[in-house]
Amino acid sequence: MNETIHWTENAQNMQADWGGDSRHPAPKHIQAITQISAEQAIQLMRQHTALLWRGDYHQGKQLLAAIKKRVRSKARIHTDFHKHRLQQAQHSRLFQLLLVEIQPQGILNNSRAPDIAAALNDVFGKPNQNALLLPLHLLLGYIGAYEWHKTGVSIPALQGQKIHVPYGVFSPVRGEYLELVAHAALPSACQTAWDIGTGSGVLAAILAQRGIPEIIATDNNPRAIVCAQANIERLGLNKQIHIQHTSLFPEGKADLIVCNPPWLPAKPSSDIETALYDPNHQMLKTFLENIRNHLSANGQVWLIMSDIAEHLGLRPSEALHQWIEAAGLKIIHKIDTQPTHQKAREQHHPLSYARNREITSLWQLGIQ
Ligand SMILES: C[S@@+](CC[C@H](N)C(=O)[O-])C[C@H]1O[C@@H](n2cnc3c(N)ncnc32)[C@H](O)[C@@H]1O
Repeated sequence: MNETIHWTENAQNMQADWGGDSRHPAPKHIQAITQISAEQAIQLMRQHTALLWRGDYHQGKQLLAAIKKRVRSKARIHTDFHKHRLQQAQHSRLFQLLLVEIQPQGILNNSRAPDIAAALNDVFGKPNQNALLLPLHLLLGYIGAYEWHKTGVSIPALQGQKIHVPYGVFSPVRGEYLELVAHAALPSACQTAWDIGTGSGVLAAILAQRGIPEIIATDNNPRAIVCAQANIERLGLNKQIHIQHTSLFPEGKADLIVCNPPWLPAKPSSDIETALYDPNHQMLKTFLENIRNHLSANGQVWLIMSDIAEHLGLRPSEALHQWIEAAGLKIIHKIDTQPTHQKAREQHHPLSYARNREITSLWQLGIQ
């Protein structure tokens, strides 16, 4: 159930559902505006007043861009991961205070506004029945995500076939790790495989194309389940791959268990960050602690991990080895790759000292 927000505008009592991220509380004070400078807007927002933009849509976008530029240019540079993230979260909370009102059925009444109904349906799964106050920052994210969802990401490891990824599901757009899964030597006589935390379903699809006859892919995010199912059907692999909405493992055992867990041990600060951040590496640890019960004799675990958490000082370099050993597993082989995406080469990002050194590995593990 969405929280209802009340405000007064032109001496009228108004109300709408709150459409912001569920981890951010709905704003208490709302002021409708049609014109304001970025500086004045920031001042009001810093006093916890949310601004409901009633002006021209494109001017609203320009205002948001000017607010972001101003706030970021004045911010201190933190090379410490936690301080950097805290600052990012504070900025994101501030940027969420510029709102637009969406009328029922996804209608935006600001002048020159585009038709956003399809983008909202793609995110929420159905048209909104009540008026909705939505941060413009989020709306722009939804529109961008909808375009990406339609376009899809071409996957070389799937012979260029596309994976379509909606808002809120991990996208394999930086896909070096996919090549590792496409080319690593499979365990002998591999008949069954699991893809734990399947996201878009991309790893399950690669395993299916490698000829494994029975694959189960799980995820605990309902958006990922819908997305993976759609991709698997689109690729015509639904006879080989079964998608299950569950936390971690299905029933039984498998010859190969693949997992690409969230890489950073930190608290997600928004609903869409749960694929990237996992407090205290909880998913990874639980995965490793229980894996032996699910592996058939001579079976293998393929764990995909980047070492970025080590470069950021969030995980001691020996920790992963220790967890693997404590799980009763041994390392059969480790294949490394370096990220080729632009962010990995950026020199001026506060965390570039870690990003520039990041290595992603496929750990092939067997029973000790
Ligand atoms: C880094 S993404 C990997 C997605 C996909 N396998 C890939 O490689 O592109 C991690 C995925 O694990 C899922 N996940 C996190 N905790 C989980 C759990 N306890 N059980 C199942 N899936 C989980 C997330 O929803 C997310 O889809």
